[in-house]
Amino acid sequence: MLVADDYEAMSGAAAELVAGQLREKPDSVFLVPTGTTPLGMYRRLAAMHREEGVSFARATFFNLDEYLGLPADHPASYHAYMEENFYSRVDVDTARVHVPRGAAPEPEAECERYEAAIRDAGGADLCVLGIGRNGHIGFNEPGAPLSSRTRVVRLSESTREVNAVDFEGGLAPESAITVGMTTILESRTALLLASGANKAAAVAAAIDGKVSEAVPASALRRHGRATFIIERVAAWRLTRNTGV
Ligand code: PGA
Repeated sequence: MLVADDYEAMSGAAAELVAGQLREKPDSVFLVPTGTTPLGMYRRLAAMHREEGVSFARATFFNLDEYLGLPADHPASYHAYMEENFYSRVDVDTARVHVPRGAAPEPEAECERYEAAIRDAGGADLCVLGIGRNGHIGFNEPGAPLSSRTRVVRLSESTREVNAVDFEGGLAPESAITVGMTTILESRTALLLASGANKAAAVAAAIDGKVSEAVPASALRRHGRATFIIERVAAWRLTRNTGV
């Protein structure tokens, strides 16, 4: 675990880790998050591309989740987020960029297709994650089975309220497609980022609490090759060094 002094330090360390993975294996497969937390990491990666020639052209990206029912061109979709904050700023090969199709006519079939695409790509080399205030990773809300794969999930009321800021005049959608816990845990390496004081309780539960399906992020402690980069203000409730 690394405690970073501030948001910029967290973002820089995360971008270094992603760039290091690319240096080692330019055709790496990534599972990638949305949200406010990784914005700084994406900014750093775009700067590394512009200024240092870091290339993403051979890498493959799978988003962790997408809202159910939202077309790719909806401004609050994770398709739109990724395009705006990352993909349009670097040299990704659009044929290697994947986001679950939230508006697919048959969501269950879309989940199977998405899971198969990750498998066919050889699984993820690095899974980058944020953490919800309730301990969720991707949209695996508290109670998500460790055995889960890509599937349709109902979002908790608290997640819908937190994410309401992206939806004018309403809560976030009721449901989403998320990559599952097993899919995440099968990634060869994982990186969880946490920023902001409002994540301190979730971070403490994930790192100091019991490993339990009630706190999905806690499962990463069983992973073996998971790194936690925590901004200092999100780390203040940690009471012991658990060696993660
Ligand atoms: P945030 O979301 O980065 O916007 O806080 C993280 C998450 O819910 O996983």
